[in-house]
Amino acid sequence: MADPQEVLSRRVQSALGAAFGPEFADTDPVIRPSQFADYQANAALALAKRLGRKPREVSAAIMEHLDVSDVCREVEVSGPGFINLTLREDWIAAQAQALLDDARLGVPEQPPKNVPIDYSAPNVAKEMHVGHLRTTVVGDSLARTLELLGHNVIRQNHIGDWGTPFGMLIEHLLEVGEDSDRAQLLITDPNAFYQGARTKFDESGPEADDFAARARGRVVQLQSGDEETLRLWRKLVGFSRTYFNKVYGKLGVTLTDDDLAGESTYNDMLDAVCEDLESQGIATMSDGALCVFLEGFTGREKKPVPLIVRKSDGGYGYATTDLATVRYRVDALKADRILYVVGAPQAMHFKMVWATAREAGWLPQDVETTHVQIGN
Ligand code: ARG
Repeated sequence: MADPQEVLSRRVQSALGAAFGPEFADTDPVIRPSQFADYQANAALALAKRLGRKPREVSAAIMEHLDVSDVCREVEVSGPGFINLTLREDWIAAQAQALLDDARLGVPEQPPKNVPIDYSAPNVAKEMHVGHLRTTVVGDSLARTLELLGHNVIRQNHIGDWGTPFGMLIEHLLEVGEDSDRAQLLITDPNAFYQGARTKFDESGPEADDFAARARGRVVQLQSGDEETLRLWRKLVGFSRTYFNKVYGKLGVTLTDDDLAGESTYNDMLDAVCEDLESQGIATMSDGALCVFLEGFTGREKKPVPLIVRKSDGGYGYATTDLATVRYRVDALKADRILYVVGAPQAMHFKMVWATAREAGWLPQDVETTHVQIGN
């Protein structure tokens, strides 16, 4: 679509050239939105001084040479010498029609960049709450928009598919029966399944103690790569995937299984993340945990807040995985820019992760990271 302001600028400029000579043809015609018309050209006021003539005379001279009959239905001089310009309805309609006829709606392409977008990211065996629905729809619109602009968008669905709760979830799955109706709750009512496991885990009594002990043992087996445990874990994740896809279908978003890059994807990178941070002197041991203390991140009484990359029991957490996401997206996905569409309460987490990644040299200065904050 032609921008009316630009079209009018060009027309007024050629009138300026015709009226006052070619040296005036590139004078700014000062086209502004008007209170009294659609636009006004204010050039006469600025030119009057330069020409040593009255502004109203200058605008009269412009009017004599101004040819906008195809664009404007009304052109008149007002006040000290403004030229008021009112657009023709059929000209506006023609511009709108031209846009409708263009599959790109007139949106120009940008030089393509590789842009991983982290969005949706629900958690396995849990219901998607409204925050997940919001990152899903906001993230998907950003992905589509950036794609239309010509970028190489790489959707990254960072689902929560790893961690200690999986011990209890796997044991619960075994108890209810892998192919039972109660296992199907993972697809139809995941919170009911989760609560079933949780209640058993938290209860007291010999039966519950036994369950909790098995759950803890299961975590160890999962982490050490026991085949049968991994099979059960995959089954759990599979049920959740069916549930997520059901929701995605209802929302009409573009996410598919190919976009899954859950927390577990980064398991093999976590040792190296910690080792590299430690050898660079960025992470240090504190109370048995490996921590990064960053300048400017302090809590109550100016006490430094640590980013914990390895817990005192040797386990890795959310921050370690997110450091790995940065490395992977920069190194393997060749990111020029990275978006994280995640709840606002995680703002501090991302600031610390990115600051750490920059310090470690994993996130070059020219790769911009953005936290698109959902909620408040
Ligand atoms: N699963 C997380 C949650 O539900 C969101 C993950 C967002 N992405 C990330 N790279 N940390 O809060």
